[in-house]
Amino acid sequence: MEALERRAEELDAADPLADLRRRFLLPDGLVYLDGNSLGALPAAVPPAMADVVQRQWGSGLVRSWNEEAWWAAPLRVGDRIGRLLGAAPGQTVAGDSTSVQLFNALCAAARMRPGRPLLLTDPGQFPSDRYLAESVARLFGLRVGYVPPAELPDFLRTHGEGVAVAAYSPVDYRTGELFDVPAVTRAVRAAGALMLWDLCHAAGAVPLRLDEWGVDLAVGCGYKFLSGGPGAPAFLYVAGRHQESFDHPLTGWNGHADPFGPTAGYTPAEGIGRARIGTPPMLSLLALEAALTAFDGVDLDRVRAKSLSLTGFLIDCADTLPGGLGFSLVTPREPDRRGSQVALRHPEAYAVVQALAEHGVVGDMRAPDLLRFGVNALYLTHRELWLAMTLLRDLTTAQEHRAPRHQQRATVT
Ligand SMILES: Cc1ncc(COP(=O)(O)O)c(C=O)c1O
Repeated sequence: MEALERRAEELDAADPLADLRRRFLLPDGLVYLDGNSLGALPAAVPPAMADVVQRQWGSGLVRSWNEEAWWAAPLRVGDRIGRLLGAAPGQTVAGDSTSVQLFNALCAAARMRPGRPLLLTDPGQFPSDRYLAESVARLFGLRVGYVPPAELPDFLRTHGEGVAVAAYSPVDYRTGELFDVPAVTRAVRAAGALMLWDLCHAAGAVPLRLDEWGVDLAVGCGYKFLSGGPGAPAFLYVAGRHQESFDHPLTGWNGHADPFGPTAGYTPAEGIGRARIGTPPMLSLLALEAALTAFDGVDLDRVRAKSLSLTGFLIDCADTLPGGLGFSLVTPREPDRRGSQVALRHPEAYAVVQALAEHGVVGDMRAPDLLRFGVNALYLTHRELWLAMTLLRDLTTAQEHRAPRHQQRATVT
């Protein structure tokens, strides 16, 4: 047995979270490294969905809105997510997509900081975030300033007075780099601007303390590290101190103070309930609720410790096993600058990811040349990472990725 394989087995044997894997249903023999796009299926979801569909919907029909507390689900699920974000109850709502929540939050932020013409975001931000920032800027007559997170404190010192909102992600979705969320938040708030975090790649993977850090607004998705399923509802966090002035544009009837009353105009509900929009996607929301039980009793600091052990080990494997085969590490090596993913650069990334998947190792890629491995510490083992990197070495050595079926496509969805 080679040294890395032995180390993997020792680390797995000493893993205090090893039992959590039983909370997920993973196909035998598959190494699933795509939890940062779509988390694995939690074992609690299939029985919960059978109950929701057959009993709650099939028998209960419309009565289930009250009898099964469907109506209360967006805030109930929101609070469950809030626990993972360091948010006290009553500040998080679940529903809609991240893009919708982002639009809502950006517009509300612009309204909360009138007279400030700048909306800041990361030039490397996820496309939806950049497109929405541009659109919201057009709507409100603002400008988008593209400032990388590392340059933000300096920028704010000189131009801070003009900034309405800074919208950033704690983890770069391509490189896996983790930024200093409390420090960025402090700098933004010191300038009198609002801090809006997109937590898609952090929620459920990186411990967060939104209340303690003074974050103003946050959004994120339910389908990556939260494992809520494809298209799972997203979430929006609005700090309690901002809820009264949270005037968002999508004023659907669910956010009305008296949603069933005969009112002529829109009066927002008290608290986070005003951030509700329309009828929630109940099946997806209840699947997400069941999925979140995978975090019951789980301390996110321990998840983070395991995640760092896994990503550190993956980096060691990537340094040695496919060493000299054209791969270079993109993710920072320093643990405190690393989210829960490892990205490698390779000119034939697309073909390599396809070839890996054919042999049972599922990762993903980002054009033009990044292989992305998402590391969910709730269900992955060090041995699986060793297996993945061994396969990476073997198939690139044998040039299997150059077989005609793996040739680069013009676009990747
Ligand atoms: C960082 C980030 N923001 C926003 C989105 C868009 O999310 P949605 O498709 O739920 O609108 C994604 C999707 O992957 C993402 O990674």
